[in-house]
Amino acid sequence: MTTEVDPVTTLAAPLTLACGQVLPNRLMKAALSEGLGTRTHSPDVRLERLYTRWGAGGYGLVLTGNVMVDRHHIGEPGNVVIEDDRDLDGLTRWAKSARDGGSPIWMQLNHPGRQANPMATRSKPIAPSAIAPGIPGIPAPRAMTEYEIRGIVERFATAALVAESAGFDGVQIHGAHGYLVSQFLSPSANRRDDRWGGSLDNRMRFVLEVVRAIRTAVSPGFAVGIKLNSADFQRGGFGEEESRLVVEHLAVEHIDLIEISGGTYESPAMMGRSVAESTRRREAYFLDYAREVRAAAGDVPLAVTGGFRTRSAMGAAVASGECDVVGLGRPAAVTPDAGNALLRDGADSVVSPAIGLGLPRKYAKPLDGALDLQWHTDQLHLIGAGSEPDPNRSVWRTAVRTLQRNGLDAFRSRRSGSR
Ligand SMILES: Cc1cc2nc3c(=O)[nH]c(=O)nc-3n(C[C@H](O)[C@H](O)[C@H](O)COP(=O)(O)O)c2cc1C
Repeated sequence: MTTEVDPVTTLAAPLTLACGQVLPNRLMKAALSEGLGTRTHSPDVRLERLYTRWGAGGYGLVLTGNVMVDRHHIGEPGNVVIEDDRDLDGLTRWAKSARDGGSPIWMQLNHPGRQANPMATRSKPIAPSAIAPGIPGIPAPRAMTEYEIRGIVERFATAALVAESAGFDGVQIHGAHGYLVSQFLSPSANRRDDRWGGSLDNRMRFVLEVVRAIRTAVSPGFAVGIKLNSADFQRGGFGEEESRLVVEHLAVEHIDLIEISGGTYESPAMMGRSVAESTRRREAYFLDYAREVRAAAGDVPLAVTGGFRTRSAMGAAVASGECDVVGLGRPAAVTPDAGNALLRDGADSVVSPAIGLGLPRKYAKPLDGALDLQWHTDQLHLIGAGSEPDPNRSVWRTAVRTLQRNGLDAFRSRRSGSR
């Protein structure tokens, strides 16, 4: 006879990380780009309001949305940028707003590379190679020089050090979703013939150098994690076997947590949009891969994000050892206290409405992915303004406002600002 493990008991168990930090439970609020920075890319009170809600929301870990390491290369309008300690006071208030509620907070650090947003980035985008992504309206990047590569590695380390000084408990390197780190890993985006491209060992040099530079800059008790793609879900791109080998290398680099995701904004598997129907129906999109990569990760805990909605599936994933932490993205935008709802208040699941305009498939494909992001970003803006999220918000209203703000350009299947 098998005894069912109670999902609440499983999910409520603390987790001790290699750096010594203890996560109070296994639910992680995943990174959701807020677009709530000021015009000069500083954090402001709207972020404090939002993170006060998430910090008190009963999560074992709160991740910030991606923070840029270079103000000349921005992922979305409204991103916060850290290049030095000029915003230390605002950043300190941001970290405190989450920590006061009882959750540790890690800052996600990112460089968009060729996925820089043209509405927010004046400089020509840079990337490992001068190959444009397959996203309409995104210009071709220019290939980075060796000097620029070194400079960006240093920028990640500087931003991590500032995050630590501001009271954040850790950082997460954004190594997924087609941004610069994942461009270096991808054989189709990285066609360099120097030590940063070609073989997998060369393609993973950038991410390993970033990890090492951050580790050297911060103190041993500060957590360093990474979000990595299982695969890019693109022909000729980074695949599961290579991803497993990268995990093997990361596992010996004093990494505290590896979060598994997948896809790029050309092929948005992370949102369940480019994965097979069977995978989407199975609730957690990347759990099969997590099971396979488990051994490669050694003692490093794994988080899996994408598709988790029911407490039973979350509990089963952790109880079976497939992952140690469950990431929640879109549900945390609609239910800021999803952790408490699931672990304390008896909720069996967290809601995340399927966002779409109900248009014929031909139009729905490019539009619905963009609207899914915008609709959830709108929820973050409501909370940041001091209001409640609105699960009944009309998708058409999001569509119209997005058009007003950004024009037709916004309806690329990628993240774009929604201020
Ligand atoms: C509005 C929005 C913004 C996002 N911003 C980020 C981000 O800054 N960094 C990141 O790694 N993932 C980002 N994601 C992806 C989520 O972290 C997560 O991987 C994805 O939503 C799948 O998880 P879910 O099914 O629980 O929503 C974003 C997703 C949404 C909806």
